[in-house]
Amino acid sequence: MKPVTISPSLLSADFLRVGEQLSELRSAGASRLHLDVMDGLFVPNISFGIPVIKSLRKASDFFFDAHLMIERPERYLHQFAEAGADALTIHVEATGNPASVLRSIRSLGMQAAISLKPGTTLGTIEPLLPLCDRVLVMTVEPGFGGQSFMHDMLDKIRRLAAFKDLFSYGYEIQVDGGINVDTAKLCAEAGAEDLVAGSSVFGSQNIAEAYQNLCDSVAEAPYAR
Ligand code: DX5
Ligand code: ZN
Repeated sequence: MKPVTISPSLLSADFLRVGEQLSELRSAGASRLHLDVMDGLFVPNISFGIPVIKSLRKASDFFFDAHLMIERPERYLHQFAEAGADALTIHVEATGNPASVLRSIRSLGMQAAISLKPGTTLGTIEPLLPLCDRVLVMTVEPGFGGQSFMHDMLDKIRRLAAFKDLFSYGYEIQVDGGINVDTAKLCAEAGAEDLVAGSSVFGSQNIAEAYQNLCDSVAEAPYAR
């Protein structure tokens, strides 16, 4: 089984020094970058969008994993593909026809992923699971970094891991929100395979060390479950 990975989230980066910070993380072994795109409608916050991804793409060989917290993401799939996104995560709550959006993402050559807010049940995404390369479990309300991990979401992770085993689905289980060395371990024990970390990496004086500490905290995972 592949080791549990850590995806730093650009949302918490120092935008004045972003090139430098990304190089530091790359040298520390990070290979995936989580890109939180917010439109001020789906979530009560606005972050960054296509032009930022496009310019980062020129300077970086990270796997670009864009988490689209936007209404009707189907309007922008081509633009994200052209900007250099490698994977797009859409929210099941943000579109009328998530199955068709997931298919379109794949047809544009990107990985397709579904995410659900803490209050959305797994039943809502169950029919979509065969269409997903990744399922993103939100462990905070989407919109802001720096919030506390919702422990009651661990059961969702366990159930997704059980579905995956039972039906041999190909999706990766990713978790986003409130990840630190303690919650990372709980998620890995529950069956998570990639953990998004914003403030616990970029809020540290030494981001490479913070990234490494997170990797170390899940180094023994996957645990027997
Ligand atoms: C929140 C975003 C997260 C955010 C996580 O809506 O989806 O990716 O960056 O930040 P932390 O790790 O600080 O909870
Ligand atoms: Zn995110």
